[in-house]
Amino acid sequence: MELTKTITLLSGDGIGPEVSAEGVKLLNLVEKEFKYKFEIIKKDFGGIAIDKFGVPFPEDTLNTCKKSNAVLLAAIGGPKYDSLPREKRPESGLLELRASLNTFANLRPAIVFDSLLDSSTIKKEVLAGTDLIVVRELTGGLYFGKPKGIEKRGNEKVGFNTMVYSESEVRRIAKVAFEIARKRKKKVTSADKANVLDVSQLWKDTVIEVSKNYPDVSLEHMYIDNAAMQLIRNPKQFDVILAENLFGDILSDEASMLTGSIGMLPSASIGDGTLPAIYEPVHGSAPDIAGKNIANPIAMILSIGMMFKYSFNNEKIHDSIFHSVEKVLNAGYRTKDIYQEGSKLVGTSEMGNFICKEFSLCKV
Ligand code: IPM
Ligand code: MN
Repeated sequence: MELTKTITLLSGDGIGPEVSAEGVKLLNLVEKEFKYKFEIIKKDFGGIAIDKFGVPFPEDTLNTCKKSNAVLLAAIGGPKYDSLPREKRPESGLLELRASLNTFANLRPAIVFDSLLDSSTIKKEVLAGTDLIVVRELTGGLYFGKPKGIEKRGNEKVGFNTMVYSESEVRRIAKVAFEIARKRKKKVTSADKANVLDVSQLWKDTVIEVSKNYPDVSLEHMYIDNAAMQLIRNPKQFDVILAENLFGDILSDEASMLTGSIGMLPSASIGDGTLPAIYEPVHGSAPDIAGKNIANPIAMILSIGMMFKYSFNNEKIHDSIFHSVEKVLNAGYRTKDIYQEGSKLVGTSEMGNFICKEFSLCKV
């Protein structure tokens, strides 16, 4: 039986189209070698949508996303949009997309490949064996809290945002973290600032309450500032890191450098399963290197791997994609961001080709 899946592809801006092209190559290959049929629908999103329609997230893009089995998003944004009013910026479109699809859980695994131990700025003894996942709350907290704005108070302007969480919002993200930990090393570290923030106290109390349903998983609490420090000092102590939206945003960029480059980190944004999930490399649109065939397509390719795991329930293909990347890295091929003396420098499309070739060979 053929499995038909509709994927909305939002290539976006900057290096987005280039890394997307490598992702599509891989999807075509999966189609050829497995019983999948992909209907890939390309839609405008981010800066490109602003250029064409004046808004970052057109209605038509939203409708197509909602009807698909999964959304694959590359990257959005660029300096040319930075001076637009906030609601017209590419980033606002991204927040709207996450909110519309109710993808409250953002999963960002940071796995250090042995062959890249020298690519990170951190000592390899510290890094070797690191395998953690950041579970970031994605549709609440400081990013979405109200009131927010900039207003005149007295004779000066004041800017404000609100970090707000309800118990139910914390419960559902905590549940995701514990369920994931259960299939891993059974440890959740919840990052908060409960020594200062009321919202963090509620977060912490609620996480403790949820943890009672997971007696097999150990729970520790860490202040966010300490967590940022510990992540560099001894990343191996972590298994699942659970964090509020902005805290998770910051920790996941930090975690990416453990892997050697932000060009390596994939992500999945999932909800309760009634709407499609979003798969997206953690890196941005990198306008400075766009169109030069030097961007690293690995985060995009690993994001597709996550799509097979979380949306198509196919761990085998997820694992094959992961191992194909690992083999190409072991063979010494590197894009510029992870290049080390003695390795073989390749461009975006060559890296994609090598990974596809390995994928054909290691077909399960
Ligand atoms: C990310 C990005 C986004 C975020 C930006 C582009 C809005 O940094 O996905 O981590 O802050 O969530
Ligand atoms: Mn970020």
